[in-house]
Amino acid sequence: MALIFSRFGSGIMSFAGHMRSSKHAALRTISNCYSLPDTHKMLQKTCREFAEKELQPVAAKFDKEHLFPKEQIKKLGELGLLAVNVSEDAGGAGLDYLAYVIAMEEISRGCASCGCIMSVHSSLYLGAIQQFGTEEQQKKYVNPFVNGDRIGCFALSEPGNGSDASAASTVARLDGDSYVLNGTKAWISNGYEAEAAVVFATTDKSKKHKGLSCFIVPKSIAGFTLGKKEDKLGIRGSSACNLIFEDCRIPKENLLGQEGEGFKIAMMTLDAGRTGIASQALGIAQAALDCAIHYAAQRQAFGASILKLQTIQIKLADMESRIESARLLTWKAASLKDAGQKYTKEAAMAKLVASEAATFVSHQAIQILGGMGYVSDMPAERYYRDARITEIYEGTSEIMRLVIANNLIKEYGL
Ligand code: CAA
Repeated sequence: MALIFSRFGSGIMSFAGHMRSSKHAALRTISNCYSLPDTHKMLQKTCREFAEKELQPVAAKFDKEHLFPKEQIKKLGELGLLAVNVSEDAGGAGLDYLAYVIAMEEISRGCASCGCIMSVHSSLYLGAIQQFGTEEQQKKYVNPFVNGDRIGCFALSEPGNGSDASAASTVARLDGDSYVLNGTKAWISNGYEAEAAVVFATTDKSKKHKGLSCFIVPKSIAGFTLGKKEDKLGIRGSSACNLIFEDCRIPKENLLGQEGEGFKIAMMTLDAGRTGIASQALGIAQAALDCAIHYAAQRQAFGASILKLQTIQIKLADMESRIESARLLTWKAASLKDAGQKYTKEAAMAKLVASEAATFVSHQAIQILGGMGYVSDMPAERYYRDARITEIYEGTSEIMRLVIANNLIKEYGL
């Protein structure tokens, strides 16, 4: 723990000096009804300052040029933010999941593409290996992936199946001491830069979801190639591409968990991932509200600032209420995970409410900005584009509603 404090501590010290010498607008204090521990408050402040100083000014460039924010991701790694809840022994910050979602919101508030890269790497790639990997696998595929030098990805979706996660047509056939992988994974976030992937493949089709298995596949292995980088609507600083496996022979020891455990690994990992995406959505929504309220304060119409107009105030009230509701759900899901309790329903509720809040708030922000909301001189249009994916990846809003309803029905014993 001491190491974490010194790492975050030095981050704060250097930022504090920077803030004093820069002409930054005062940061709005977000009131938290949750009484956050000091570590979490310190982390939130560090991440907020990092995002304002290092991410916000360059987010539009990465979006416009479809560029991976290499330098910024390296800095996130150096601050311990790519492995917030990885143990200190493994080189991580050793904090809990609540800390992770707090960090994720702030980073995404500055740059949603960085939020996506951090989320897929931390909660899906590292999360799966941390929870299900052997000691050897952790040494090889977690420890070198904590400081921003290397990132990972998570390959579940395929061109022919997205929501129906167990129906993978990518197959893995055991042959001696190796599995031979054949198939294509689609829309894989971080796919282009990832040095290793957590990949799901069918080992026994007759067993349906119990015939899905999970593998760790390093990028350097023969028979593993990448498809074209997708041209996306939003989060354009992060990559998405197909992963193509053609007679890709991977050592048997790269099986993650047991054969046939893949579906369970995917679902449990996605519970954590969805909580992370909820906080990414929160960051986007918060950034859109920040943008809208500052614009409204300056914009004059009908002889006064439009902030004085009740039509604008009603929008702001709805935006703030949705954000705060989503934040509480997200923190609840993360706290349940930290307490070792079941949180599948809460993770789905957090992602559903936060992603729909991000869509709503970024839409309303454009309404408040009017013409300025529709052009790229202001970030409102980017927030609107970035928000959209949060209702799609790691389970669509429709799937989130199914997960919530299924768990609710079970709670009633029906
Ligand atoms: N934790 C542990 N086990 C779980 C679980 C969870 N959260 N959810 C389900 N399971 C188990 C069940 O207990 C059940 O186990 P048994 O067979 O032993 O009884 C088994 O899994 C099957 O469960 P269901 O019958 O509920 O499964 P289903 O097929 O009816 O529904 C689904 C599953 C919810 C639709 C699921 O397929 C799903 O979540 N689909 C969405 C997939 C998804 O999120 N894809 C996103 C891709 S990843 C991504 O986007 C990465 C990126 O690059 C950003």
